[in-house]
Amino acid sequence: MNVKTVTLAYYSPTKTTQKILQGIAEGMHAENVRHIDLTLPETQTTPQDEKEGDLIIIGAPVYEGRVAQTAIPRLQQIKAGKTPAVVVVLYGNRDYEDALLELGDLTEDVGFLPIAGGAFIGEHSFASETRPLANGRPDDQDMAKAREFGSNIRTKLDNVASIDDAVRVELPGNTPYIFRDRSPLADRAATTIEETCTLCGTCAPLCPVGAITIEDTVVTDNLACTLCNACVKNCPTGARVVDDPMLNKIVNWVCKNYQARREPEIFI
Ligand SMILES: Cc1cc2nc3c(=O)[nH]c(=O)nc-3n(C[C@H](O)[C@H](O)[C@H](O)COP(=O)(O)O)c2cc1C
Ligand code: SF4
Ligand code: SF4
Repeated sequence: MNVKTVTLAYYSPTKTTQKILQGIAEGMHAENVRHIDLTLPETQTTPQDEKEGDLIIIGAPVYEGRVAQTAIPRLQQIKAGKTPAVVVVLYGNRDYEDALLELGDLTEDVGFLPIAGGAFIGEHSFASETRPLANGRPDDQDMAKAREFGSNIRTKLDNVASIDDAVRVELPGNTPYIFRDRSPLADRAATTIEETCTLCGTCAPLCPVGAITIEDTVVTDNLACTLCNACVKNCPTGARVVDDPMLNKIVNWVCKNYQARREPEIFI
């Protein structure tokens, strides 16, 4: 089957997922590429048409070894007939555990047929210059692998007459998925250093859950914050921080123990 239109659907607060999906689409040399950006709260998605020649690439970051929770209901808004899908998770060089399998299952539940999957590495959301973890990734090597993956997907689909002949991809992970106790992160949130905040307003519209309001100071809805770090990475004065003693302990440990470079894995 000849893929004409590639749809990129992604949740990507710090944009590494988006970047890899664009690389995969480049490698596919599709006539049309369209984006469904599910990152911001007001996003509305339109149902997918079951059209011969379409493919969707669905991407999400890994949080605690699973698909970032905020992404799940947003991805579930997309409905499909048996459209072929490629699932992609981005993780910060520690591990992706059950996230790729979970994303494959979610995708199948809404009506797609997952035909390929990939786990790629992006700069860790909690990384900084002084506490690096996969800084600058995806880099040139990662992007070359993303394009090569795109080219392999095209070859796979060129070799089947129609979607009815395509096979569901096998993805790694545990069944049932390993349980994650998310409570230690639940009441933690990004904060603002008032002395260096200029009230410029950059952070508020970037927040995927609308947790930031600019008043006389920057006000954060602590219960809504998912610690995605989009506000932190984009604050021009460094006033926005995630600086919590328990989180710092965990992140320092992860940064110390997961420096060995991991490489993208593809399943096709
Ligand atoms: C709350 C939270 C939990 C995370 N958990 C993991 C994890 O379990 N393993 C990992 O390698 N990276 C983890 N990361 C890092 C992200 O997966 C990584 O930075 C990803 O590239 C972010 O994608 P984005 O740029 O599209 O937002 C976590 C990040 C956050 C904010
Ligand atoms: S982006 Fe930084 S400086 Fe601007 S309002 Fe937000 S916290 Fe303040
Ligand atoms: S307030 Fe929390 S959820 Fe919103 S952008 Fe900042 S870290 Fe992400």
